[in-house]
Amino acid sequence: GIRTNRICCIGAGYVGGPTMATIALKCPHLQVDIVDMNEERISRWNSDDLPIYEPGLGEVVKACRGKNLFFSTDVKKGVEEADIIFASVNTPTKTQGVGKGRAADLRFIESVGRTIAQFANRSKIVIEKSTVPIKTAEAIARVLSANEAASGSRKNFWILSNPEFLAEGTAMADLDQPDRVLIGGQDQDAIGVLVDIYANWVPRERILCTNLWSSELSKLVANAFLAQRVSSINSISRLCERTGADVKEVSRAVGADTRIGPKFLNASVGFGGSCFQKDILNLVYICQQFGLEEEGAYWQQVVDMNDHQKVTFTSKIIQALFNTVTKKKIAVFGFAFKKDTGDVRETPALLVCDMLMKDGAIVHVYDPKVAIEDALQEFKYHDLEVNQSQFIFSTSAEEACDGAHAIVVLTEWDEFKKYDYQKFYSKMMKPAFLFDGRNMLDHAGLEKIGFEVHALGKARVATEHHHQDFVMRAGSRGSAGYS
Ligand code: NAD
Ligand code: UDX
Repeated sequence: GIRTNRICCIGAGYVGGPTMATIALKCPHLQVDIVDMNEERISRWNSDDLPIYEPGLGEVVKACRGKNLFFSTDVKKGVEEADIIFASVNTPTKTQGVGKGRAADLRFIESVGRTIAQFANRSKIVIEKSTVPIKTAEAIARVLSANEAASGSRKNFWILSNPEFLAEGTAMADLDQPDRVLIGGQDQDAIGVLVDIYANWVPRERILCTNLWSSELSKLVANAFLAQRVSSINSISRLCERTGADVKEVSRAVGADTRIGPKFLNASVGFGGSCFQKDILNLVYICQQFGLEEEGAYWQQVVDMNDHQKVTFTSKIIQALFNTVTKKKIAVFGFAFKKDTGDVRETPALLVCDMLMKDGAIVHVYDPKVAIEDALQEFKYHDLEVNQSQFIFSTSAEEACDGAHAIVVLTEWDEFKKYDYQKFYSKMMKPAFLFDGRNMLDHAGLEKIGFEVHALGKARVATEHHHQDFVMRAGSRGSAGYS
């Protein structure tokens, strides 16, 4: 049989950390070692200042660390002592070479395979936790068996696919009560070992077992479907702005159909995050590799629509500010790609700020969890230059608004709803504009204060009325004068 009391996870990131902390919490009879080559990350996991912000994570780490949860840079020891090894390393989009900008960069996942081959002293279960292109399990199996044959030793490696569906900001709740756990594999005993681990807290009917390739592919497809809903509603938001329909009302009406469902239909400045775009581009690339051009083009459109959304949103800002933002202070509320995370990977805020700065604006960002260093690093990753005198982080939303021409809401942090906008308004240049890239604020209330509010997917009926009133009043005064 397969021994199962030691687990090692290679990769202490947004997935490895919360996932393994949850396993440690739910399975006190197992020891979980998380290893990573990034020393700074590991030392922060071992401190009070965890390397990622995720609500509820700190408590779980505190409860388990040093008992049955350990963070270390000693990959060799982790691999040697474990019976089950999770690979939870990053699989970013390739930035150069064949498939650049589309294909997944598999160097980290392959290096995990080689590391296991090098250090494994006995048979082990190897689990793909990372999101990978379909057929990656085959590549890992080949790396492992080729090295095994070369060393002349006889070990067995069972490869399983166990993609992760947690969303950032709600990771701990998602892990605690997953809609489903997906396990793909060929060997029923190995599958059974992993099923039994999850069954410590997940109802068995929610643990789905499939073949390896269905499991690998389902992860890409799930993200493609989710992102597709966002791009679909965003495309409709544009049509709403032209016609007098309100995208919020359309979302509600459409989502009330139980076949469609109400979730993931919020129009926005665009989706961000390290997964959606990367995984769709990966899906497109795989389609193309199999000669499925039309199928690839279908999914590519989800990403193209998202890029279009970010550009049109920003163009609308510049246009409303009398076609010039040069030297104008713009307050940006939120830089993270969604609320309750400090993660800025692929955040729509990047393109919005870049476009505003290229047009000469001075951007003052306030985000409760994002550090300016992380934001600057993301610009660098995308080869975007930042003039630091145009990109400033404020310590409060109020400070960001002082003397600003506009507020631009880019992340849906709860605290943004609770602010005293009257106070902000009094400190701003007039006319004071507000662009709500998350459709989350009380637009009527803000208009009453005096803001010119631009919502998503809603024509600016309010100003048109003001404008009409003004014309009518001017007209009647005029006629009174003549009579
Ligand atoms: P991450 O970049 O936060 O973490 C990956 C970690 O792996 C890094 O700390 C890196 O140093 C480490 N690493 C890479 N190669 C290594 C090696 N050979 N040895 C030791 N350590 C190594 O990435 P993440 O956001 O946790 O994502 C991991 C995987 O999970 C990706 O495939 C991603 O697509 C997938 N995923 C992510 C999310 C999410 O919300 N972030 C959700 C579901 C799935
Ligand atoms: C996503 C998947 O949800 C998760 O299952 C997978 O494991 C990883 O990728 P994540 O990227 O962390 O999770 O967050 P998610 O909540 O999916 O949001 C992604 C982006 O879409 C965010 O920028 C969010 O603001 C945006 N979004 C989401 C919208 O613009 N509108 C919506 O209605 C929903």
